[in-house]
Amino acid sequence: MRIDILSVVPQLLDSPFSASIMQRAQEKGLIEIHLHNIRDYSTQKHKNVDDYQYGGGAGMVMSIEPIAAVIDKLKHERIYDEIIYMTPDGEVLEQSMCNRLSLVNNIIILCGHYKGVDERVREHYVTREISIGSYVLSGGELAAAVLVDSIGRLIPGVLNDETSALTDSFQDNLLSPPVYTRPPVYNGWEVPAILLSGNFKEIDKWREQQAFHRTKLRRPDLLND
Ligand code: 6GU
Repeated sequence: MRIDILSVVPQLLDSPFSASIMQRAQEKGLIEIHLHNIRDYSTQKHKNVDDYQYGGGAGMVMSIEPIAAVIDKLKHERIYDEIIYMTPDGEVLEQSMCNRLSLVNNIIILCGHYKGVDERVREHYVTREISIGSYVLSGGELAAAVLVDSIGRLIPGVLNDETSALTDSFQDNLLSPPVYTRPPVYNGWEVPAILLSGNFKEIDKWREQQAFHRTKLRRPDLLND
């Protein structure tokens, strides 16, 4: 999968993709992430990428020209499955959407800043608008990092068997059960005996019960979907 990310502060995205699983996915050639600085496409003398909003009001709006220039250039090079705009008023990201997006070949992710982008970008270029939750970030970059991580780890070969996505929380609308590792007793706090029993049928049953119990307690909304 190829992911092109458009931003006025692409430096914000250097570190999230340069370690751990996302780094390995790129080294293995399973994901290609290309960062584009929208400012490089400004034709203005001072490389402006934003302007005052029509009708007045505080806050700058990202201009259509430099964004259109990057997107047109990229679309000329290949076909994109989705052009995603990261915005707090988008559809809230859910596992089902991550699953679907992990199957496509090429996506563009546009990160908003300031008061947002000129509406004409959304009308004529963007195919999908995504938010990562009901709170406001100072820009779309961290949200884009969340989106790319959540999609990237679902691409076959990115995770190994041990970290397989199939047993994740949310993948079957259930939260994950509690997990333990050595030592069996720490400070008098014991690991549940069932996990040390070697009875894998019973262990599976216990995990299922715990997952259900946890979901009912913490995220009852998941059980109603
Ligand atoms: Cl995608 N962008 C911004 N700026 N804030 C957000 C968000 C996105 N999702 C939640 N809050």
